[in-house]
Amino acid sequence: MCLIKELPLLLPPALLALFVYFYLAGSKRKRPNLPPGGRGWPLLGETIGYLKPHSATSTGEFMVQHIRRHGKIFKSNLFGGPTIVSADAGLNRFVLQNEGRLFECSYPKSIGGILGKWSMLVLVGEMHQTMRMISLNFMSSARLRDVLLPEVERHTLMVMSSWKEGVAFSAQEEAKKFTFNLMAKNIMSMEPGDPETEQLRMEYITFMKGVVSAPVNLPGTPYWKALKSRANILRVIEKKMEQRTEGCEKRVEEDDLLGWALKQSSLSKEQILDLILSLLFAGHETSSMALALIIFFLEGCPKAVQHLREEHQDIVKKKMERGEAAGLNWEDYKQMEFSQCVINEALRLGNVVRFVHRKAIQDVSYGGYDIPRDGKSCRCSQRSIWTPNFTPSRTNSSHGGGS
Ligand code: HEM
Repeated sequence: MCLIKELPLLLPPALLALFVYFYLAGSKRKRPNLPPGGRGWPLLGETIGYLKPHSATSTGEFMVQHIRRHGKIFKSNLFGGPTIVSADAGLNRFVLQNEGRLFECSYPKSIGGILGKWSMLVLVGEMHQTMRMISLNFMSSARLRDVLLPEVERHTLMVMSSWKEGVAFSAQEEAKKFTFNLMAKNIMSMEPGDPETEQLRMEYITFMKGVVSAPVNLPGTPYWKALKSRANILRVIEKKMEQRTEGCEKRVEEDDLLGWALKQSSLSKEQILDLILSLLFAGHETSSMALALIIFFLEGCPKAVQHLREEHQDIVKKKMERGEAAGLNWEDYKQMEFSQCVINEALRLGNVVRFVHRKAIQDVSYGGYDIPRDGKSCRCSQRSIWTPNFTPSRTNSSHGGGS
């Protein structure tokens, strides 16, 4: 009787004690061993620091400070969620080698908004494979040899002939113009210098500023402007598609990616638009940055420039001795061993793609740390090992010396 009377008084502390017990027991059991790191601001986390622009020849303040404080594997809060960031070569290799089994591609939602939900950077599984096969079949080695190589040479000569003696120009801008024109030609048969191509290029510049900005969709922000440019670019691609599909019997078959994708009848209009836009992005941004980096590194390495010049002059001399036409062919390209070393070394030192984003699809353990399933993504920094001297010969033992 007495106990019943006291029950209302005893019950709350008893329930509280039970709750604390189960909470502690549960958290002890489930708490994963995450790498060290911080959380940053509520909601924003450390996203602003992560997105802060930095030179492509540096690792960036965000990575430098975090690695110094926590080591090469650390936790953070990026794009609204807990994230594990890795600059560790072993973990990066492990993540990429286990693609599809333990990890899958997982870019922030804002990337999907900009590149489109059918972009290869957003898709996973079967649809990703389909889109990849379409792109790879288009970029077959036969096409690279017979179509792309002569096109690259034509565009290179065109850009170089526009340079005036004694007039300074931005190598990066020229690299961007060159790769954009090359991609626009191969993707939609658009000619360099045409008003339509130039207008598309301007839209693309605005678009690109948004891809690498904070995903704030408010009037006037770079992200908002980029979404508008995306719509304008898609309108141009759509118009091209309509021109090709109307009056089918009369139309000229263009040997470009758009023509190729239109032949793949299983793809919808929306899918083709996203495929074209994301390939324009994937091919242009990366190659132009790589070209600019090569020029940057060569400027500080006269010995490598001399080596390159000798390699190319030697190829030209031998072609002339054989009585071959002047144009570059696949055999000439294959002889450019040192040129390939220069490209490899610039890609090793430069930061073309700063991060690849992956999500663990099951609980994973690596090096004593736990990478929990889902919610936590793993962003791997490309530059895991950094040796700051530009030394192209390091990638080929037959070439002695370097810078
Ligand atoms: C120096 C030049 C380039 C670099 C450094 C580069 C780098 C990369 C990287 C790191 C990825 C992986 C992204 C990820 O899985 O999260 C990627 C994917 C991709 N790149 Fe490139 N890329 C270059 C040139 C190109 C070019 C010229 C094209 C096409 C014309 C291209 C088309 C693609 C496509 C379609 C994907 C997605 C593949 C997939 O998800 O299966 N890239 N690139």
